[in-house]
Formats: sequence, structure tokens, C-alpha cells
Amino acid sequence: CGIVGYIGASLAAPILVEGLTKLEYRGYDSAGIAIAGKDGIEVKKAKGKLAVLERQLQSGMPTGTVGIGHTRWATHGKPSNENSHPHIDNSGDFAVVHNGIIENFQKLRDQLEEEGTVFTSQTDTEVLAHLVAKYYDGDLEAAVRRLIVDIEGSFAMAFLCKHEPDKIVAVRKDSPLVVGLGDGEFYLASDIPAILKHTRRTYILDDGEMAVLTRRGVTVKCCGTGTCIEKEVFQVEWDAVAAEKGGYDHFMLKEIFEQPKALRDTLSGRIVENGHVTLNMEELKLDPAELRAANKVCIVACGTAYHAGFVGKYIIENLARIPVEVDVASEFRYRNPLVDAHTLMVVVSQSGETADTLAALREAKGKGAKVFAVTNVVGSSIAREADAVLYTWAGPEIAVASTKAYTTQLLAMNLLALALAEARGTLSAEEISEIAGAMREIPKQVEDVLNAAGEVRMVAEKIKKWNDAFFIGRSIDYAVAMEGSLKLKEISYIHAEAYAAGELKHGTLALITENIPVIALATQEQVLEKTISNIQEVKARGAMIIAVAQEGNKEIVKFADVLLTVPRTHPALTPILAVVPLQLLSYYTSVVRGCDVDKPRNLAKSVTVE
Ligand code: G6P
Repeated sequence: CGIVGYIGASLAAPILVEGLTKLEYRGYDSAGIAIAGKDGIEVKKAKGKLAVLERQLQSGMPTGTVGIGHTRWATHGKPSNENSHPHIDNSGDFAVVHNGIIENFQKLRDQLEEEGTVFTSQTDTEVLAHLVAKYYDGDLEAAVRRLIVDIEGSFAMAFLCKHEPDKIVAVRKDSPLVVGLGDGEFYLASDIPAILKHTRRTYILDDGEMAVLTRRGVTVKCCGTGTCIEKEVFQVEWDAVAAEKGGYDHFMLKEIFEQPKALRDTLSGRIVENGHVTLNMEELKLDPAELRAANKVCIVACGTAYHAGFVGKYIIENLARIPVEVDVASEFRYRNPLVDAHTLMVVVSQSGETADTLAALREAKGKGAKVFAVTNVVGSSIAREADAVLYTWAGPEIAVASTKAYTTQLLAMNLLALALAEARGTLSAEEISEIAGAMREIPKQVEDVLNAAGEVRMVAEKIKKWNDAFFIGRSIDYAVAMEGSLKLKEISYIHAEAYAAGELKHGTLALITENIPVIALATQEQVLEKTISNIQEVKARGAMIIAVAQEGNKEIVKFADVLLTVPRTHPALTPILAVVPLQLLSYYTSVVRGCDVDKPRNLAKSVTVE
């Protein structure tokens, strides 16, 4: 989502709309603005592209000079007029826009409804409008500071209040928010591109900070204590193109670095405190009896999503002890698959629009299977047609090569595996709680892997002149090797192949020559010795070994020319860490080879034809 805000001498609406157009690259399914004027707060919002809102505004532009605006990327509640932001309270005196996820919104909503509040949307955000109204006692800042105590999750949000029409109050936690400092005019935005036209002088808000924008200036305060904070002005030096990428050279790199947040969001609210896995009730329409009755799982997807499914097979079979088949969607339909009412069909798709995957979904439904979708786009065709949906909350992914969508899909596979394991009684409560605990560590561990990006960059220099590379791994590492190989192929145009390490000697070894890069994944303890002997096989033929292993692995050091380590975690979660150096390797290799990283030749982000 994107947030904008304006207070000054000019009409707010056109400035807000113009700011929202600059956030278009984030993708949106609806947009809206709220303007504080003489007669209270006026809200204009509409489902669809910004153009729909613009058309609506042609027949009545609000005239106030203070306002907030929003472009939405749906998480809770499908794209619709009602679910668009800004949201207002029952009196219409308060308006709010919000990015992020309010994890405990259902509990808050139930309480508010008991107190007589009427809800008009399915969003998590709407509780904020009602809470601010509930706590308002003549001081908007105080009401916002009070409501923060009630909410859990991530947020960047901005409030307007009819009784204090010359003020915007904004606050952030785990979701970006920037204040733009103009001359007698002040701006607010979730992303710098939205304000770049007006000013380069900004305050970048930190977690727990609140900004109060008035016509006289901007005060930043600690949300907890209310004390003022001296902010340093951050002068933005980026041009408009760099600003869209958050200062990164490419969307792909930005998205690789967004993974800790994407993973945190995808996990949020999905595991309850006692370690039991609970999937968001609105999404999960499969009951435990059905999960128990299933006799097999079929995972179907394309490209990177297929690779996530392949990892899913290992995880689900291991944890939930149920057979799992994995198919590429374009094959599934034409092999007259054995699917019936006892099959749990799982389709995985970032976009939710891939034609082959959608066709597979319909094929399985036609044969009586229940379809469970894992997708990143609320309201997409696959989300609409599936019986149940588990959304990844990675946010819009723009680079063609998928990164944050993949790692969040891996997390979704783990959540599904745990839900199945719990329903089928294949894991003890302690085991479930151990894995859930390990999941919570993952976002931070990905951050640690990203901190070592510089090392990977040096490896790219070593492999850039090669036209072939091999990825090997055993067990779940083999599935990760497939994704690593695809990443390298699609953006650096180096021919890459992934092999189950034990299979090398049955043919591929003939291709191993002096110095050829072999990227060996060795994160799985139970097959480590065997993987190491496969590494020795290729090493003996002169290959350059780039190994990815868990920290503290003393054996592998002896054989690797380059060792990239990832933190230790539960075996089912290692792919989420192990793939990150591979993503970075593809990225840096693509850059040094001068390729078009974000838009590789011949490829499309979403393939909606068969
Ligand atoms: C295209 C993209 C891939 C993606 C695949 C499946 O081929 O280039 O990056 O993995 O489609 O897309 P989906 O949206 O279904 O995950």
C-alpha cells in the first residue's frame, strides 16, 4: 500500500492524487482520499485504478487544504469500495489510512461491536478509525497514543479529525513513513517518490515515533512517552527512478532486502502464543476433519512457485506424513491426474493469475478435490476460485525474478504442513511449538544472511565469465538448488542445471571440467556426509566449489573454494535461509554481466496465456 498526506495553503486533493500516482509502481487495487474542510471530513474512494478515483473527483473536488490519501494492496478483505481507505468512524469525525497488518483486529472488532460500533468493511484497518473515536477526548494526539496500546502488528498510519482540522497525526511501527518539509507546507508519505516533486528535505520516522503536522510545522514525538524528539533532516539525493526503488539499484535487490519484512508480515497473526498453529480464520475454510480425511496432497504451480511446492513436498511429507505429489501446472491437466474428493489440492501462485495454474485448479475442482491456494494477490482469479486461501503478505513484487514471493511461499508451506500435522496428530505439541519458535526467528536470520551480501558479490566476479553452472544438493537442498539454478538462468543468462547430488555420477559428471562453478547446498545434517562425498567427486574433476552450509560446519570448509554460511534452524526452514545467497548470487552476476536484471529478455512477470 501507499500513504500520502498534505497540509498547507494549496488544495490538498490534487496534491494527494498526484502523490498517489507516484506510488502506482507498488500496484494497487483501490485508492482514496480524505480531506478536512469547513464542513468536516470528506472522503472519496473507489475500487480500481487511480483513474477511477480521478474520474470521481472530476465531478466534485474537495476544497480543503489538509488531507490524507491511500493506494491499497489488499491483505484483509478483497478489493472493493468499502474496503478502500480512508476508513472513518461511525460519526464521520475521524479518518485513517494505514499500511501494514493489525494482527489482533478480530478481537478488537468483536469488542467494539459489543460496544455498539457498526463496521462497514472487512479490513483490519477499520478498527483504527473506531478506536481513535472511542479514545478521543479533545486531543487527537492523545487518542492516537492511547489506541497504539491496544494494537499488535505492523503499521504506518495517518489520522484526520474534524475537531482539529488543521492537523495530521501519523505514527509508524515496522512500516515506512516519511515527512516532507516544504515552505509552509508539509507532506507525509510511505515512500519518498510521492513527495519528491515538492521537497527533498525529509524526516524519516523510526519505529514508535509519531509526527504531528500542522500549518506551522512538524513535531516528532515518542509515541510511548509523548516527549519531543529532535529529528535530523534527511536530504534525499535520489532521482525519481532511484526513489521508486527505495534507493536500491534494482527492484530485485530491493525485494531481496524486503524479505525479512515480508516474512514477518506473512507470519504475523498466524501462530498463536501457545505454539499451536492457527491460520487466519477468514482465510481458512478447511476444517480439521477434512485435513484428516485427505489421503494425498497434490501441489501444482509454475516457475518459482513450483519450486516452492517442491520444497513443500519435503516439508509436508516429513511433518504431516501424507503423500505429496508436485506437478508443473502445464503438465498436470494433461496427464489425467488421479485426483478425487480425498485429495487436498494445493496451488501456489504469486500473481494468482497464471493461466496454467488456474486451469489445474479447475481440473482438480472438477474432479471433486478441495483446493487450497497460496497466493500473494487478494481477489486474484486463483484466490476467488479456490476453496481456501492462505495469503502470502509479501507486498507487490515487481522484478520478474521472484524472490520475496518465493520465501514467503516457503513459509506458507511450513504453516500448511503444521496445520496438517496438528490435525492429523503426527507431531507432538512440543514439536509444533519448537518449529513455530524457529519460524519466529527466521526474519531476523534472513537479515543476518543479507548482512553478508558483500561476500556473495565477490563470488559473482568469479562466475561471471562462465556459460554453465551446476547446482547440487540432497533432500530439501535439491529443491532449493532448482530455484537457485532458475534464478541464475533467468536473469544472468548463464546456463545452469540443478541436480540431486547423488545423481551426478549417473551422467552429469561428464560435464564437470576444470574450474566450472558448482554451487553445492549442504544444509541438511542427515545427508551431510553423503553431500560432502558428492562435493569431493566434482572437486576431484577440478570444479570450483561454492558451498552453502549452516554455520559451524567444519567439514565443508575443507572442500569449498568459497563458503557461504547461513544460521542454523529447523531443517524444514533451512530453504528460506539457503536461497538468499543464491538470490544474491544471481543478482550480482546479472549486474556484472550487464543484463537487464528486473526485466530479463523474453520473460513476463505473470503469464496469463497457456
Ligand atoms: C512467470 C514468472 C515467474 C513465476 C511464474 C509463476 O513465469 O516469470 O517468476 O514464478 O510465472 O507465476 P505465479 O504468479 O503463478 O507465481
